Amino acid sequence: MADYVGAVDQGTTSTRFMIFDHGGDEVARHQLEHSQILPRAGWVEHNPTEVWERTRAVIETAMNEAHLHADDLAALGITNQRETSVVWNRRTGRPYYNAIVWQDTRTDRIAAALDQDERGQVIRRKAGLPPATYFSGGKIQWLLENVEGLRADAEAGDAVFGTMDTWLIWNLTGGVDGGVHVTDVTNASRTMLMNLETLDWDDELLAFFTVPRAMLPAIRPSSDPRGYGVTRADGPLRGEVPLTGDLGDQQAATVGQVCFTPGTAKNTYGTGNFLLLNTGKEIVRSENGLLTTVAYQFGDEDAVYALEGSIAVTGSAVQWLRDQLGIISGAAQSEALARQVEDNGGVYFVPAFSGLFAPYWRSDARGAIVGLSRFNTNAHLARATLESIAYQTRDVVEAMEQDSGVRLDVLRVDGGVTANELAMQIQADVLGVPVSKPVVAETTALGAAYAAGLAVGFWKSTDELVSNWNEDKRWQPQADEAVRAKGYRNWKKAVARTLDWVE
Ligand code: G3P
Repeated sequence: MADYVGAVDQGTTSTRFMIFDHGGDEVARHQLEHSQILPRAGWVEHNPTEVWERTRAVIETAMNEAHLHADDLAALGITNQRETSVVWNRRTGRPYYNAIVWQDTRTDRIAAALDQDERGQVIRRKAGLPPATYFSGGKIQWLLENVEGLRADAEAGDAVFGTMDTWLIWNLTGGVDGGVHVTDVTNASRTMLMNLETLDWDDELLAFFTVPRAMLPAIRPSSDPRGYGVTRADGPLRGEVPLTGDLGDQQAATVGQVCFTPGTAKNTYGTGNFLLLNTGKEIVRSENGLLTTVAYQFGDEDAVYALEGSIAVTGSAVQWLRDQLGIISGAAQSEALARQVEDNGGVYFVPAFSGLFAPYWRSDARGAIVGLSRFNTNAHLARATLESIAYQTRDVVEAMEQDSGVRLDVLRVDGGVTANELAMQIQADVLGVPVSKPVVAETTALGAAYAAGLAVGFWKSTDELVSNWNEDKRWQPQADEAVRAKGYRNWKKAVARTLDWVE
């Protein structure tokens, strides 16, 4: 009898494998980081082979430590950093190039050219996305233009594209010996190549990026009773487990936070922040710089859509304090340092390291620290960093309220930064809305497990999942209204200083 469901969460900085029981509680986990390859300013790559090896290792270790076998798992789900693009040869299994990561800005010319004519508007209308370096389409085009021999192999169907879910599913189901080449609707909705209405690759969009259809995976529901395939008996699970859940990590967190009704939203604090608002079966077009994306599709039900505010740099700004400035020794210390001061001392930090994503979409922006006086210390900078996370979130919440007319009454949060109590209090203060965190904070892996488990009947309905959700902590807004308004005005002034920086 299989009592558990497993989930691989392949993220930007690490890969983890988690095992959950029927109550949605964690039974085991293992996590490993992989290398961040930064060959030039603005370029960010991952080695796909290293990521696959890490994936194998985390699965093996978690299963061994929990003394579990493949037949203890009812199903396996995959969730992944989205947009990050890998192209490999299906005959040799070898990647043609490192994976180009979502944060990478090398395709800025490709993205900018799309807005020189009507193509940008076509992409907005069909794919729900503004042309930007963030999404996969331009990354595939760059690879086709820069890797010798790749285009011919792609046209012949030997070179295939995938986001990280696709790469891992292909490897888990057999690789060169019959690996399955699939993705799900949520991951496909981040490529600029999928039509949100048909949920299929769109020939006009493919032509914009000169992408041959032959290199693209089949698009499937995020939770699929037919299964994408089974894990290979000689793979890391050492047995055949049905792979039945696949969704991008932010969509997975939306499912893990049980945001199943239109109007519910979650905000995940990872390297970046991603706020998704469920808009139901309706495709809501943003007038305010948000993305329209697929939230999930369960089996043969209609797809559910979301409005998304993607922020490129939040948790990674805290890492920057640690790694580049050396003013803290670990992320947790940012809270202690920031608590040394009452307020930001007039300092605002806009961490526009990859340009600004939602709601601005300005690839010409670069980071700025403004308002400095001699009085300021590291502690003010730490405080300003935590505030930047909260202010960027307010920017997308305001855009979301304008687009949807939905006024948030509570913000459901998850992810690494939610361990920082001060950051969460600042968030409630800056938004003027309570912030609520669930007991199971690993909502991304949980959401992938839910998608996989629903497909095989391990969970019977989303109602069962809703009853698994319990609040751990709630932060109430405490800030004075005038202070709140002034802080946000200053933030907007600081943002204006970062624009038009790159020529
Ligand atoms: O769109 C990028 C997002 O999916 C990355 O999430 O948690 O790996 O930083 P994360």
